[in-house]
Amino acid sequence: MPSILQCVDCSQQYPIDTVVYSCGACGGLLDVRHDFEPARQGLTQNLFDGRLGALSAPYNSGVWRYKELIYPGVDDEHIVSRMEGNTNLYELPKVAAYAGVDTLFLKHEGENPTGSFKDRGMTTGLTQAKVLKMKRVACASTGNTSASLASYAARAGMQGIIFLQNQQIALGKLAQGIAFGAICLQINADFDRNMALAQQVSARLGMYLLNSVNPFRLEGQKSIMFEALQQLRWQAPDWIVVPGGNLGNSSAFGKGLLELYELGLIDRLPRLAIVQAEGANPLYRHYKSGFRQYQPVKAQTIASAIKIGNPVNVSKAIRALEWTGGVVEAVSDQQIMDAKAVVDAVGIGCEPASACSVAGARKLARRGIIQRGDTVLGVLTGHILKDPEATIGYHADTLPQLKPQHRNEMLQAEADIEEIVALLESAPAPAPLGAARSQN
Ligand SMILES: Cc1ncc(COP(=O)(O)O)c(C=O)c1O
Ligand SMILES: [Zn+2]
Repeated sequence: MPSILQCVDCSQQYPIDTVVYSCGACGGLLDVRHDFEPARQGLTQNLFDGRLGALSAPYNSGVWRYKELIYPGVDDEHIVSRMEGNTNLYELPKVAAYAGVDTLFLKHEGENPTGSFKDRGMTTGLTQAKVLKMKRVACASTGNTSASLASYAARAGMQGIIFLQNQQIALGKLAQGIAFGAICLQINADFDRNMALAQQVSARLGMYLLNSVNPFRLEGQKSIMFEALQQLRWQAPDWIVVPGGNLGNSSAFGKGLLELYELGLIDRLPRLAIVQAEGANPLYRHYKSGFRQYQPVKAQTIASAIKIGNPVNVSKAIRALEWTGGVVEAVSDQQIMDAKAVVDAVGIGCEPASACSVAGARKLARRGIIQRGDTVLGVLTGHILKDPEATIGYHADTLPQLKPQHRNEMLQAEADIEEIVALLESAPAPAPLGAARSQN
Protein backbone atom coordinates (compact mmCIF):
# COMPACT_ATOMS: atom_id res chain seq x y z
CA MET A 1 0.00 0.00 0.00
CA PRO A 2 1.37 3.47 -0.82
CA SER A 3 0.05 4.88 2.49
CA ILE A 4 1.06 4.64 6.14
CA LEU A 5 0.06 6.12 9.49
CA GLN A 6 2.66 8.40 11.04
CA CYS A 7 2.84 10.21 14.38
CA VAL A 8 2.90 13.99 14.00
CA ASP A 9 5.18 14.32 17.04
CA CYS A 10 7.75 11.48 16.99
CA SER A 11 7.29 10.20 13.39
CA GLN A 12 6.68 6.62 14.55
CA GLN A 13 5.00 4.73 11.71
CA TYR A 14 2.19 2.16 11.70
CA PRO A 15 0.82 0.04 8.85
CA ILE A 16 -2.21 1.63 7.22
CA ASP A 17 -4.52 -1.16 8.41
CA THR A 18 -3.67 -0.75 12.13
CA VAL A 19 -6.64 0.19 14.31
CA VAL A 20 -4.98 3.06 16.18
CA TYR A 21 -5.95 6.69 16.81
CA SER A 22 -2.87 8.00 18.62
CA CYS A 23 0.81 7.09 18.75
CA GLY A 24 1.58 4.12 21.01
CA ALA A 25 5.06 5.54 21.64
CA CYS A 26 4.27 9.16 22.60
CA GLY A 27 0.50 9.66 22.50
CA GLY A 28 0.69 12.10 19.56
CA LEU A 29 -1.92 12.43 16.80
CA LEU A 30 -1.52 10.38 13.64
CA ASP A 31 -1.44 11.43 10.00
CA VAL A 32 -2.31 9.31 7.03
CA ARG A 33 0.68 9.81 4.74
CA HIS A 34 0.73 8.88 1.09
CA ASP A 35 3.67 8.26 -1.17
CA PHE A 36 2.80 10.45 -4.13
CA GLU A 37 6.16 9.92 -5.88
CA PRO A 38 5.36 6.94 -8.13
CA ALA A 39 2.30 8.66 -9.60
CA ARG A 40 3.56 12.23 -9.29
CA GLN A 41 3.86 12.98 -13.01
CA GLY A 42 0.23 12.14 -13.53
CA LEU A 43 -1.14 14.20 -10.65
CA THR A 44 -2.02 17.23 -12.71
CA GLN A 45 -4.79 19.81 -12.80
CA ASN A 46 -5.90 18.18 -16.07
CA LEU A 47 -6.37 14.79 -14.39
CA PHE A 48 -8.83 16.23 -11.87
CA ASP A 49 -10.44 18.66 -14.31
CA GLY A 50 -11.11 15.75 -16.66
CA ARG A 51 -13.22 14.09 -13.98
CA LEU A 52 -15.57 17.03 -13.44
CA GLY A 53 -19.10 15.98 -14.22
CA ALA A 54 -18.24 12.27 -13.94
CA LEU A 55 -21.37 10.12 -13.79
CA SER A 56 -19.86 6.95 -12.35
CA ALA A 57 -18.34 6.01 -9.02
CA PRO A 58 -15.95 6.80 -7.56
CA TYR A 59 -15.18 10.01 -9.48
CA ASN A 60 -18.75 11.34 -9.26
CA SER A 61 -17.95 12.12 -5.61
CA GLY A 62 -16.31 15.45 -4.78
CA VAL A 63 -14.02 13.54 -2.44
CA TRP A 64 -13.07 10.54 -4.57
CA ARG A 65 -12.49 12.73 -7.63
CA TYR A 66 -9.12 13.26 -5.94
CA LYS A 67 -8.67 9.60 -5.01
CA GLU A 68 -4.91 9.64 -5.66
CA LEU A 69 -4.57 12.38 -3.01
CA ILE A 70 -7.09 10.91 -0.54
CA TYR A 71 -6.49 7.17 -0.35
CA PRO A 72 -4.66 6.00 -3.47
CA GLY A 73 -4.38 2.30 -2.66
CA VAL A 74 -7.94 1.62 -1.58
CA ASP A 75 -10.01 -0.84 -3.53
CA ASP A 76 -12.97 0.94 -5.21
CA GLU A 77 -15.33 -1.74 -3.93
CA HIS A 78 -14.62 -0.72 -0.34
CA ILE A 79 -15.65 2.89 -0.97
CA VAL A 80 -18.79 3.95 0.93
CA SER A 81 -20.03 7.07 -0.85
CA ARG A 82 -23.12 9.24 -1.17
CA MET A 83 -21.59 11.30 -3.97
CA GLU A 84 -20.67 13.81 -1.29
CA GLY A 85 -18.92 17.08 -2.00
CA ASN A 86 -19.58 18.78 -5.34
CA THR A 87 -20.73 21.76 -3.29
CA ASN A 88 -21.18 25.23 -4.69
CA LEU A 89 -18.74 28.08 -4.39
CA TYR A 90 -20.71 31.33 -4.25
CA GLU A 91 -19.24 34.74 -4.98
CA LEU A 92 -21.30 37.09 -2.80
CA PRO A 93 -20.64 40.83 -3.21
CA LYS A 94 -23.18 41.81 -0.56
CA VAL A 95 -21.70 39.54 2.05
CA ALA A 96 -18.26 40.74 0.95
CA ALA A 97 -19.34 44.33 1.59
CA TYR A 98 -20.53 43.31 5.06
CA ALA A 99 -17.20 41.63 5.74
CA GLY A 100 -15.34 44.70 4.45
CA VAL A 101 -13.54 43.07 1.54
CA ASP A 102 -13.87 43.35 -2.23
CA THR A 103 -14.00 39.66 -3.03
CA LEU A 104 -15.56 36.98 -0.87
CA PHE A 105 -16.36 33.42 -1.90
CA LEU A 106 -18.33 31.11 0.33
CA LYS A 107 -18.00 27.37 -0.16
CA HIS A 108 -21.23 25.85 1.06
CA GLU A 109 -20.49 22.55 2.73
CA GLY A 110 -24.06 22.51 4.02
CA GLU A 111 -24.91 21.28 0.51
CA ASN A 112 -23.49 17.84 1.31
CA PRO A 113 -25.90 14.87 1.50
CA THR A 114 -26.56 15.15 5.24
CA GLY A 115 -26.16 18.92 5.33
CA SER A 116 -22.62 19.37 6.62
CA PHE A 117 -18.97 18.93 5.65
CA LYS A 118 -18.80 15.86 7.87
CA ASP A 119 -19.90 13.70 4.93
CA ARG A 120 -16.53 14.26 3.29
CA GLY A 121 -14.83 12.76 6.33
CA MET A 122 -17.39 10.02 6.80
CA THR A 123 -16.97 8.64 3.29
CA THR A 124 -13.27 8.06 4.00
CA GLY A 125 -13.93 6.98 7.61
CA LEU A 126 -16.55 4.37 6.68
CA THR A 127 -14.41 3.23 3.77
CA GLN A 128 -11.57 2.52 6.18
CA ALA A 129 -14.04 0.81 8.52
CA LYS A 130 -14.87 -1.50 5.59
CA VAL A 131 -11.20 -2.11 4.85
CA LEU A 132 -10.78 -3.07 8.50
CA LYS A 133 -13.92 -5.25 8.40
CA MET A 134 -15.50 -3.35 11.28
CA LYS A 135 -19.06 -4.08 12.34
CA ARG A 136 -19.69 -1.04 14.54
CA VAL A 137 -18.70 2.61 14.20
CA ALA A 138 -19.06 5.24 16.92
CA CYS A 139 -18.60 8.94 17.61
CA ALA A 140 -19.28 11.67 20.14
CA SER A 141 -20.97 14.62 18.52
CA THR A 142 -22.41 18.07 18.84
CA GLY A 143 -24.82 16.78 16.17
CA ASN A 144 -23.47 16.91 12.62
CA THR A 145 -20.89 14.16 13.00
CA SER A 146 -23.56 11.83 14.37
CA ALA A 147 -25.99 12.67 11.57
CA SER A 148 -23.33 11.90 9.01
CA LEU A 149 -22.06 8.78 10.75
CA ALA A 150 -25.59 7.44 11.07
CA SER A 151 -26.20 7.93 7.34
CA TYR A 152 -22.94 6.41 6.15
CA ALA A 153 -23.12 3.52 8.62
CA ALA A 154 -26.57 2.68 7.25
CA ARG A 155 -25.21 2.82 3.70
CA ALA A 156 -22.35 0.52 4.66
CA GLY A 157 -24.59 -1.90 6.54
CA MET A 158 -22.82 -1.23 9.84
CA GLN A 159 -24.19 -0.36 13.24
CA GLY A 160 -23.72 3.31 14.13
CA ILE A 161 -23.46 4.35 17.78
CA ILE A 162 -23.62 8.04 18.64
CA PHE A 163 -22.84 9.76 21.93
CA LEU A 164 -24.95 12.91 22.23
CA GLN A 165 -25.22 15.47 24.97
CA ASN A 166 -28.65 15.89 26.50
CA GLN A 167 -28.68 19.67 26.10
CA GLN A 168 -28.50 22.07 23.18
CA ILE A 169 -28.47 19.59 20.30
CA ALA A 170 -29.91 21.24 17.23
CA LEU A 171 -33.12 19.43 16.36
CA GLY A 172 -32.36 18.80 12.70
CA LYS A 173 -29.20 16.92 13.64
CA LEU A 174 -30.83 14.82 16.35
CA ALA A 175 -33.65 13.89 13.97
CA GLN A 176 -31.14 12.63 11.38
CA GLY A 177 -29.29 10.39 13.84
CA ILE A 178 -32.50 8.80 15.00
CA ALA A 179 -34.01 8.47 11.54
CA PHE A 180 -30.92 6.89 9.99
CA GLY A 181 -31.12 4.11 12.58
CA ALA A 182 -28.06 4.68 14.74
CA ILE A 183 -28.08 3.74 18.41
CA CYS A 184 -28.53 7.19 19.96
CA LEU A 185 -27.15 7.60 23.46
CA GLN A 186 -28.17 10.81 25.17
CA ILE A 187 -25.68 11.28 27.95
CA ASN A 188 -25.71 13.75 30.78
CA ALA A 189 -22.39 15.30 29.75
CA ASP A 190 -21.02 18.03 27.50
CA PHE A 191 -19.20 17.28 24.24
CA ASP A 192 -15.76 17.10 25.79
CA ARG A 193 -16.78 14.51 28.37
CA ASN A 194 -18.68 12.57 25.72
CA MET A 195 -15.58 12.57 23.54
CA ALA A 196 -13.56 10.93 26.31
CA LEU A 197 -16.37 8.44 26.98
CA ALA A 198 -16.68 7.53 23.30
CA GLN A 199 -12.92 6.89 23.10
CA GLN A 200 -12.93 4.64 26.15
CA VAL A 201 -16.09 2.71 25.29
CA SER A 202 -14.95 2.22 21.68
CA ALA A 203 -11.64 0.77 22.85
CA ARG A 204 -13.40 -1.53 25.28
CA LEU A 205 -16.04 -2.81 22.84
CA GLY A 206 -13.93 -2.80 19.67
CA MET A 207 -16.03 -0.13 17.94
CA TYR A 208 -14.32 1.95 15.25
CA LEU A 209 -14.14 5.56 16.43
CA LEU A 210 -15.00 8.10 13.75
CA ASN A 211 -14.41 11.44 15.42
CA SER A 212 -11.85 13.67 13.76
CA VAL A 213 -9.13 12.18 15.96
CA ASN A 214 -9.37 9.40 13.36
CA PRO A 215 -6.96 10.54 10.65
CA PHE A 216 -9.03 9.02 7.83
CA ARG A 217 -11.73 11.61 8.56
CA LEU A 218 -9.28 14.39 7.82
CA GLU A 219 -8.16 12.83 4.55
CA GLY A 220 -11.71 13.20 3.25
CA GLN A 221 -12.11 16.71 4.60
CA LYS A 222 -8.96 17.83 2.74
CA SER A 223 -11.09 17.63 -0.38
CA ILE A 224 -12.92 20.81 0.63
CA MET A 225 -9.72 22.62 -0.25
CA PHE A 226 -9.07 20.55 -3.36
CA GLU A 227 -12.53 21.25 -4.72
CA ALA A 228 -12.52 24.94 -3.75
CA LEU A 229 -9.15 25.49 -5.41
CA GLN A 230 -10.31 23.64 -8.51
CA GLN A 231 -13.43 25.85 -8.63
CA LEU A 232 -11.10 28.85 -8.47
CA ARG A 233 -9.25 27.42 -11.52
CA TRP A 234 -6.40 26.49 -9.18
CA GLN A 235 -5.72 30.15 -8.32
CA ALA A 236 -5.11 30.35 -4.58
CA PRO A 237 -7.05 33.02 -2.66
CA ASP A 238 -5.24 35.11 -0.06
CA TRP A 239 -7.27 33.74 2.83
CA ILE A 240 -9.20 30.64 3.80
CA VAL A 241 -11.50 31.34 6.75
CA VAL A 242 -12.96 28.42 8.69
CA PRO A 243 -14.83 27.92 11.98
CA GLY A 244 -12.86 26.02 14.62
CA GLY A 245 -14.43 23.49 17.00
CA ASN A 246 -12.64 20.17 17.34
CA LEU A 247 -10.23 21.64 14.74
CA GLY A 248 -10.52 18.76 12.30
CA ASN A 249 -11.21 20.97 9.30
CA SER A 250 -8.45 23.44 10.14
CA SER A 251 -6.02 20.54 10.43
CA ALA A 252 -7.24 18.91 7.23
CA PHE A 253 -7.07 22.20 5.32
CA GLY A 254 -3.44 22.76 6.36
CA LYS A 255 -2.45 19.28 5.22
CA GLY A 256 -4.44 19.45 2.01
CA LEU A 257 -3.15 22.88 1.03
CA LEU A 258 0.44 21.85 1.66
CA GLU A 259 -0.02 18.73 -0.47
CA LEU A 260 -1.50 20.78 -3.33
CA TYR A 261 1.42 23.18 -3.09
CA GLU A 262 4.08 20.48 -2.93
CA LEU A 263 2.56 18.72 -5.92
CA GLY A 264 2.60 21.99 -7.88
CA LEU A 265 -1.20 22.06 -8.25
CA ILE A 266 -1.24 25.57 -6.72
CA ASP A 267 1.63 28.02 -6.86
CA ARG A 268 1.21 29.65 -3.45
CA LEU A 269 -0.30 28.84 -0.08
CA PRO A 270 -3.31 30.81 1.13
CA ARG A 271 -3.27 31.91 4.78
CA LEU A 272 -5.61 30.08 7.13
CA ALA A 273 -7.82 32.03 9.54
CA ILE A 274 -9.42 29.82 12.20
CA VAL A 275 -12.42 31.44 13.89
CA GLN A 276 -13.74 30.27 17.24
CA ALA A 277 -16.70 31.39 19.31
CA GLU A 278 -15.66 33.61 22.22
CA GLY A 279 -17.24 31.16 24.66
CA ALA A 280 -15.39 28.17 23.18
CA ASN A 281 -12.00 29.60 22.31
CA PRO A 282 -9.17 27.46 23.71
CA LEU A 283 -7.12 27.68 20.49
CA TYR A 284 -7.58 31.45 20.35
CA ARG A 285 -6.32 31.81 23.91
CA HIS A 286 -3.41 29.52 23.21
CA TYR A 287 -2.54 31.52 20.09
CA LYS A 288 -2.72 34.76 22.05
CA SER A 289 -0.32 33.35 24.64
CA GLY A 290 2.22 32.66 21.89
CA PHE A 291 1.34 28.97 22.16
CA ARG A 292 2.90 28.88 25.62
CA GLN A 293 0.00 27.70 27.74
CA TYR A 294 -2.80 25.57 26.36
CA GLN A 295 -5.82 25.30 28.59
CA PRO A 296 -9.17 23.71 27.86
CA VAL A 297 -12.20 25.87 28.60
CA LYS A 298 -15.76 25.14 29.72
CA ALA A 299 -17.54 25.86 26.45
CA GLN A 300 -20.64 27.98 26.00
CA THR A 301 -21.97 29.42 22.74
CA ILE A 302 -25.16 29.55 20.72
CA ALA A 303 -23.18 27.96 17.89
CA SER A 304 -23.71 24.48 19.34
CA ALA A 305 -21.65 22.74 16.63
CA ILE A 306 -18.49 24.37 17.95
CA LYS A 307 -19.35 24.26 21.65
CA ILE A 308 -16.12 22.40 22.31
CA GLY A 309 -13.74 23.33 25.10
CA ASN A 310 -10.97 20.79 24.58
CA PRO A 311 -10.45 20.15 20.86
CA VAL A 312 -8.65 16.93 20.00
CA ASN A 313 -6.75 18.29 17.01
CA VAL A 314 -4.97 21.24 18.64
CA SER A 315 -1.46 20.18 17.66
CA LYS A 316 -2.42 19.58 14.03
CA ALA A 317 -4.21 22.94 13.89
CA ILE A 318 -1.10 24.70 15.18
CA ARG A 319 0.91 22.95 12.50
CA ALA A 320 -1.58 24.15 9.88
CA LEU A 321 -1.20 27.72 11.18
CA GLU A 322 2.58 27.43 10.95
CA TRP A 323 2.50 26.04 7.42
CA THR A 324 0.20 28.75 6.12
CA GLY A 325 1.14 31.83 8.17
CA GLY A 326 -2.29 31.53 9.73
CA VAL A 327 -4.15 33.46 12.41
CA VAL A 328 -6.83 32.69 14.99
CA GLU A 329 -9.79 34.97 15.76
CA ALA A 330 -12.70 34.78 18.17
CA VAL A 331 -16.21 36.22 17.66
CA SER A 332 -19.15 36.75 19.99
CA ASP A 333 -22.51 35.04 19.68
CA GLN A 334 -23.95 38.42 18.65
CA GLN A 335 -21.43 38.70 15.81
CA ILE A 336 -22.07 35.08 14.79
CA MET A 337 -25.85 35.48 14.63
CA ASP A 338 -25.71 38.85 12.84
CA ALA A 339 -23.31 37.43 10.26
CA LYS A 340 -25.58 34.42 9.86
CA ALA A 341 -28.55 36.72 9.22
CA VAL A 342 -26.53 38.42 6.47
CA VAL A 343 -25.66 35.09 4.83
CA ASP A 344 -29.27 33.95 5.22
CA ALA A 345 -30.69 37.14 3.74
CA VAL A 346 -28.88 36.71 0.43
CA GLY A 347 -30.78 33.46 0.02
CA ILE A 348 -27.92 31.14 0.86
CA GLY A 349 -28.24 30.45 4.59
CA CYS A 350 -26.16 28.48 7.05
CA GLU A 351 -26.23 27.18 10.60
CA PRO A 352 -24.82 29.40 13.38
CA ALA A 353 -21.32 27.88 13.63
CA SER A 354 -20.79 28.36 9.90
CA ALA A 355 -21.30 32.09 10.20
CA CYS A 356 -18.03 32.29 12.15
CA SER A 357 -16.35 32.40 8.75
CA VAL A 358 -18.09 35.64 7.80
CA ALA A 359 -18.04 37.17 11.30
CA GLY A 360 -14.36 36.28 11.59
CA ALA A 361 -13.47 37.69 8.16
CA ARG A 362 -15.25 40.92 9.10
CA LYS A 363 -13.38 41.19 12.38
CA LEU A 364 -10.04 40.44 10.77
CA ALA A 365 -10.74 43.01 8.04
CA ARG A 366 -11.62 45.63 10.65
CA ARG A 367 -8.39 44.87 12.45
CA GLY A 368 -6.46 45.33 9.19
CA ILE A 369 -5.18 41.74 9.16
CA ILE A 370 -7.25 40.91 6.10
CA GLN A 371 -6.83 43.72 3.55
CA ARG A 372 -9.80 45.03 1.58
CA GLY A 373 -8.22 43.90 -1.70
CA ASP A 374 -7.51 40.38 -0.47
CA THR A 375 -9.45 37.49 -1.94
CA VAL A 376 -11.19 35.64 0.87
CA LEU A 377 -12.70 32.18 0.75
CA GLY A 378 -14.90 31.29 3.71
CA VAL A 379 -16.31 27.86 4.41
CA LEU A 380 -19.95 27.49 5.41
CA THR A 381 -19.86 24.23 7.31
CA GLY A 382 -23.55 23.43 7.81
CA HIS A 383 -27.03 23.88 6.33
CA ILE A 384 -29.50 26.49 7.56
CA LEU A 385 -32.11 23.81 8.38
CA LYS A 386 -29.87 22.08 10.89
CA ASP A 387 -30.78 24.54 13.63
CA PRO A 388 -34.12 26.22 12.91
CA GLU A 389 -34.59 27.17 16.55
CA ALA A 390 -31.59 29.50 16.50
CA THR A 391 -32.80 31.17 13.30
CA ILE A 392 -36.36 31.66 14.50
CA GLY A 393 -35.19 32.79 17.94
CA TYR A 394 -33.02 35.46 16.32
CA HIS A 395 -35.81 36.91 14.18
CA ALA A 396 -38.36 36.63 16.99
CA ASP A 397 -35.84 38.39 19.26
CA THR A 398 -36.13 35.73 21.94
CA LEU A 399 -32.47 34.78 22.21
CA PRO A 400 -31.10 35.77 25.60
CA GLN A 401 -28.39 38.45 25.68
CA LEU A 402 -28.64 39.09 21.97
CA LYS A 403 -30.06 42.03 20.00
CA PRO A 404 -30.72 41.09 16.38
CA GLN A 405 -29.29 43.68 13.98
CA HIS A 406 -30.80 42.18 10.82
CA ARG A 407 -34.21 41.15 11.99
CA ASN A 408 -37.00 39.99 9.68
CA GLU A 409 -39.96 40.19 12.00
CA MET A 410 -43.00 37.98 11.46
CA LEU A 411 -46.28 39.82 10.91
CA GLN A 412 -49.58 38.51 12.31
CA ALA A 413 -53.02 39.16 10.86
CA GLU A 414 -56.59 37.94 11.05
CA ALA A 415 -57.94 36.27 7.93
CA ASP A 416 -59.22 39.58 6.67
CA ILE A 417 -58.29 41.19 3.34
CA GLU A 418 -58.54 44.79 4.59
CA GLU A 419 -56.33 44.07 7.58
CA ILE A 420 -53.77 42.25 5.45
CA VAL A 421 -53.68 45.03 2.83
CA ALA A 422 -53.34 47.69 5.53
CA LEU A 423 -50.59 45.73 7.16
CA LEU A 424 -48.67 45.30 3.92
CA GLU A 425 -49.05 48.97 3.02
CA SER A 426 -47.84 50.19 6.38
CA ALA A 427 -45.17 47.62 7.17
CA PRO A 428 -41.67 48.54 6.12
CA ALA A 429 -40.33 45.94 3.70
CA PRO A 430 -37.75 43.93 5.56
CA ALA A 431 -34.43 45.11 4.22
CA PRO A 432 -31.89 43.59 6.54
CA LEU A 433 -29.03 44.44 4.24
CA GLY A 434 -30.06 47.83 2.92
CA ALA A 435 -31.49 48.67 -0.47
CA ALA A 436 -29.21 46.86 -2.89
CA ARG A 437 -31.48 43.86 -3.30
CA SER A 438 -30.62 43.08 -6.91
CA GLN A 439 -27.12 41.85 -6.16
CA ASN A 440 -26.24 39.16 -3.71
C1 LIG B 1 -21.48 23.11 11.32
C2 LIG B 1 -20.14 22.90 11.94
N1 LIG B 1 -19.22 23.85 11.82
C3 LIG B 1 -18.00 23.73 12.38
C4 LIG B 1 -17.66 22.62 13.09
C5 LIG B 1 -16.30 22.53 13.67
O1 LIG B 1 -15.45 21.79 12.86
P1 LIG B 1 -14.13 21.19 13.42
O2 LIG B 1 -14.49 20.27 14.54
O3 LIG B 1 -13.54 20.47 12.26
O4 LIG B 1 -13.30 22.33 13.90
C6 LIG B 1 -18.58 21.58 13.23
C7 LIG B 1 -18.22 20.39 14.01
O5 LIG B 1 -19.04 19.73 14.58
C8 LIG B 1 -19.85 21.72 12.63
O6 LIG B 1 -20.77 20.76 12.76
ZN1 LIG C 1 4.63 9.51 18.59
